[in-house]
Amino acid sequence: MVPKISTLSGYIFEYQKSFANPTGFWANIADTFFWRKKYDQVLEWDFKKPEIKWFANGKLNITENIFERHMFHRGDQTAIIWEPNDPKEQFVKLTYNELFSKVKQFSNVLLKQGVQKGDRIAIYMPMVPELVIAMLACARIGAIHSIVFAGFSSQSLGDRIADAGAKILITADGGFRGTKTTPIKQISDEAMDQCQCVEKAIVLKRTGDDIPMKAGRDYWWHELMQEVNDTNEAEIMDAEDPLFILYTSGSTGKPKGLVHTTAGYMIYTAYTFRNVFQYGDGDTYFCSADIGWITGHSYLVYGPLLSGATTLMFEGIPTWPDAGRFWEIVDKYKVNQFYTAPTAIRSLMALGMEWVENKNLASLKVLGTVGEPINEEAWHWYHDHIGKNRCPIVDTWWQTETGGIMISPLAGIIPTKPSYATLPFMGIQPLIVDPEGKEMHGNSVEGNLCIKFPWPGMARTIWGDHERFRQTYFSTYPDLYFTGDGVKRDEDGYYRILGRVDDVINVSGHRMGTAEIENAINEHPLVNESAVVGFPHPIKGQGIYAFVVCTDYSTGGEEGIRHSVLMTVNKIIGPFARPDKVLIVKGLPKTRSGKIMRRILRKIAEGQMDNFGDTTTLLDPEVVSEIVEGAKKIS
Ligand code: PRX
Repeated sequence: MVPKISTLSGYIFEYQKSFANPTGFWANIADTFFWRKKYDQVLEWDFKKPEIKWFANGKLNITENIFERHMFHRGDQTAIIWEPNDPKEQFVKLTYNELFSKVKQFSNVLLKQGVQKGDRIAIYMPMVPELVIAMLACARIGAIHSIVFAGFSSQSLGDRIADAGAKILITADGGFRGTKTTPIKQISDEAMDQCQCVEKAIVLKRTGDDIPMKAGRDYWWHELMQEVNDTNEAEIMDAEDPLFILYTSGSTGKPKGLVHTTAGYMIYTAYTFRNVFQYGDGDTYFCSADIGWITGHSYLVYGPLLSGATTLMFEGIPTWPDAGRFWEIVDKYKVNQFYTAPTAIRSLMALGMEWVENKNLASLKVLGTVGEPINEEAWHWYHDHIGKNRCPIVDTWWQTETGGIMISPLAGIIPTKPSYATLPFMGIQPLIVDPEGKEMHGNSVEGNLCIKFPWPGMARTIWGDHERFRQTYFSTYPDLYFTGDGVKRDEDGYYRILGRVDDVINVSGHRMGTAEIENAINEHPLVNESAVVGFPHPIKGQGIYAFVVCTDYSTGGEEGIRHSVLMTVNKIIGPFARPDKVLIVKGLPKTRSGKIMRRILRKIAEGQMDNFGDTTTLLDPEVVSEIVEGAKKIS
């Protein structure tokens, strides 16, 4: 098992060790895992290319580190607790033995379908245990999983399948979320129609809805499982072989498929999980994230299972059948660590205390947040009413690209401060730069957050586009990884994340590129062009404000266009990307060189209707007053 730090002086000591001798430090952690062949070298790196290799030529399989490594003493321990959407439906508990057996069985299904090491497998499923089984089965045989969040539209799914060149899609007939049923197979069918690469679909029966199955392409999960046994040997992987691809949005272009590799990701997620959450044997840990995002990958599945933890997965939503659902789950399974997003905390806080008061939350020891800045009010509500003033809150800052937690308290060890991610994790060397790229030394400084030394969990490339990887993360500031986030280091040396400094917005913890939403809106036949900006939103953190220029205003009137713009975004990205506000305007504020002056639009979206600063470079300053008049009407 990876070592667990238990005191503040222990943290300081280990951090200093990781700084002074990073390779020696990580070699010690790596040695606690099960290797088929030891690595030759701990680290080779060059941020210019960029090329990062951890544990070169080491051979292993991540599922052997989850299962075989734990089997003698953990076989009968619960690995996964699954709480269904409907609390009246029977929950499921899978022991490590049972999960292992199903993973091997399903990996035999994949082998029988001709899947080979290095093949890409797309997964588009609801939050059911078979999703975990599918991803671990891929890892078992060296196939690269690419999970797409089941809230994405068919077009987004199709784009991701095509980009990864996936030859199999694992999906389900449908999914339950609150009172709604999602037509997952229908969306999958539309996506498969749009891309040529998928040869076969494996379909799990979840809702029992009547769905079409295409002969020769679609196969039922349960039928294929009956044809195979549950024994096999894991494929031996190189430390740097890809484990998975996960798509995320950037400030420009289409979503990027970040590639995470085997050994470094394994070591980093296991080590951060155990130390940040202070997970102890016998604890029950509940992460409310969807596995379609990086938090679900790293801290619902890989980190916990590599640590021999009992991890709870929940199919439904926090507000159904009522707003006490999370707390009911905590009470029912005596959850010890609970990890969620600030947006969930804010929305539950707004619904009042009556949903919390009648629940027994005494089992809780640690609370966590992730995905967006947490405001002080939500932090205090979480701390006082959920943690009853006795549970430390770990405000964990990290990204899809970082693979695991980068800046965070270690629960109960690093003293917390509301809305601060506090101090860097072992091995992480943050650096703050000014806009010119000069390092800002000392405390009480604010600037852009970079990382100056590699860590094992970092993404290695963008699938099929290494140059874009270099450009996006390693070219803004030479020899540094640029996070895209603004940060403040206060007088105590504590870090507070201020939010994105690029054209990425964070809506309810969902990361989206403004350009991506604009491209979707521009697909509308009556739209000429559009500009999207974020604005502060009390529950979602940020809301989406779309300024839209149309070619024709006669069809359906403004209200009709507004509605169909929302439907267009729904169709192209998914419902979670729908703008909160759509303002139909005659023109956008552009400079003479044709660049949109977004700072003006941001101010208007924030409710500031004058004092726009220097607007002399605008081609047509009149446009601004027209937009202001329109914005006043819909604010
Ligand atoms: O802006 C930061 C914000 O979420 C971004 C990363 O989004 P994504 O790749 O989707 O991963 C989210 C889950 C790890 C970051 O660039 N972010 C993440 N955690 C925090 C945060 N902002 C403030 N505080 C956090 N704890």
